[in-house]
Amino acid sequence: MADAAPTISEPGPEPAASGRAATILIVEDDAAMRMMLREALEEDGYTVEAVGGGRAGIERVKQGGVDLVISDVKMPDLDGLDMLREIKAVTPSPHVITITAFGSIDTAIRAVKLGAFDYITKPFDVDQLILSVQKALDERSLRSELARLRDEVQRSYRWGNIIGKSAAMQSMFALIRRLSGSSASVLVTGASGTGKELVAKSLHFNSTRRDRPFVPLNCAAIPETLLESELFGYKRGAFTDARTDRAGIFVEADGGTIFLDEIAELSPALQAKLLRVLQEGEIRPLGAARSQKVDVRVVAATNKDLEENLTSGAFRQDLFYRLNVIHIHLPALRDRADDILPLAEHFLVSSASKAGKDVRAFHESAKKALLAYGWPGNVRELENVVERAVALVEGPLVRVDDLPPLAPVRDRRPPEGEAEQDPFAAALARGLTLAELERDYIMKVVAAEGGNKTRAAQRLGLDRKTLYRKLEEYAAAGGGGGGPATSGSEGDR
Ligand SMILES: Nc1ncnc2c1ncn2[C@@H]1O[C@H](COP(=O)(O)OP(=O)(O)OP(=O)(O)O)[C@@H](O)[C@H]1O
Ligand SMILES: [Mg+2]
Repeated sequence: MADAAPTISEPGPEPAASGRAATILIVEDDAAMRMMLREALEEDGYTVEAVGGGRAGIERVKQGGVDLVISDVKMPDLDGLDMLREIKAVTPSPHVITITAFGSIDTAIRAVKLGAFDYITKPFDVDQLILSVQKALDERSLRSELARLRDEVQRSYRWGNIIGKSAAMQSMFALIRRLSGSSASVLVTGASGTGKELVAKSLHFNSTRRDRPFVPLNCAAIPETLLESELFGYKRGAFTDARTDRAGIFVEADGGTIFLDEIAELSPALQAKLLRVLQEGEIRPLGAARSQKVDVRVVAATNKDLEENLTSGAFRQDLFYRLNVIHIHLPALRDRADDILPLAEHFLVSSASKAGKDVRAFHESAKKALLAYGWPGNVRELENVVERAVALVEGPLVRVDDLPPLAPVRDRRPPEGEAEQDPFAAALARGLTLAELERDYIMKVVAAEGGNKTRAAQRLGLDRKTLYRKLEEYAAAGGGGGGPATSGSEGDR
């Protein structure tokens, strides 16, 4: 599932009983009665099918497409009430109108208790039957309309296979949509398990590059010595073991997207090489005499605070600005509590279908526990918790006892020591001047606005010209590399 391309879901087919003639199934062992019912209903425009016994009736309902069953109670092979019980266990189950014998009010009551929509007593008037049929079908189409609406609401909480109801995720969906035609580099940040890789894939598979490769590379997982050839390839004879030419991922991904995961782990030497590739749009494999053009979009991700690495010099500023043309930050799950239940329900459905179990929903007690927990492992942890619960649960409902102990956090705001801290403490410790502090803040706001300078200027209370001038000054002071003003932005260029 991890490698499945995100796809955008389209609305499913219309539910039964709207926009087409409803299908009514008659279950009646008496042939004359069957014929009479069929004629009366067909005259009213319904599609009618008829069977002579309870077993055949159940089989037909299981095949689907039946909107309403009209059934006799007394049948030789299977009692109409037993049939009713079985039909009601089918999902989605059709409405049932039961025909009872005159004077057997007990049977009628039992039928309704078992889930019959209505009953009519023999002998009956055809108009009375038609009226009941209409009522049943109206109610049913209303109900499927409600289900459709609910489904639609849920759909809007997803973008392909990314679930998100929170404002942060909704605006990210909008951003991914806006970026579909763009080849701008994107930096995805967020703590472990917040969904960075999923977002990277979504950026690719929702872009015009979707038919070309998406090639992920985890910079932390490959030894430094191999990383360069992994990225740029080599020519035969470039070093002792190079017996054939080898294309690096920049060539492999030509026309597509490279996902550089854990970018903060890239060594200074490779940072310099990567920067050159991004600036020039060409690579030179090890041992090659000349460079070759490549057309690759780079999406990079990290769970580190890259800007901190900038100050310490561990990450090149010019490369940072090249990668950070668009910035997508995925907040910790506890900071987007609106996403917890939609995500949990999404994982419930997928785990249940993977496990082949009929687990349908969370009990209120379980929902409460899921909402109160702090989720240090973010979405990945939630996914694991739900998968485990589905594996263990018996019955259709996941209760709090089916979950591992999830210690509630009382205060959903960031715990002490994080964002609630004195915002100037770090600046003080680093001994920043006022100008440096201003610069850092301005860059943060530009990044938070995805590089859109108009919005950044609004947020900063500056006019656009002033913001541009400042960004140019920073770029110039940054040593002529790709400063913020030259790194471009979607909104303004
Ligand atoms: N919004 C989401 N909707 C659906 N599934 C999600 C969402 N976010 C994360 N996931 C799922 O959670 C798991 C972790 O996501 P992912 O691997 O993308 O996280 P990550 O940020 O790259 O983590 P790490 O930093 O540890 O590599 C994956 O199985 C992913 O499919
Ligand atoms: Mg990852």
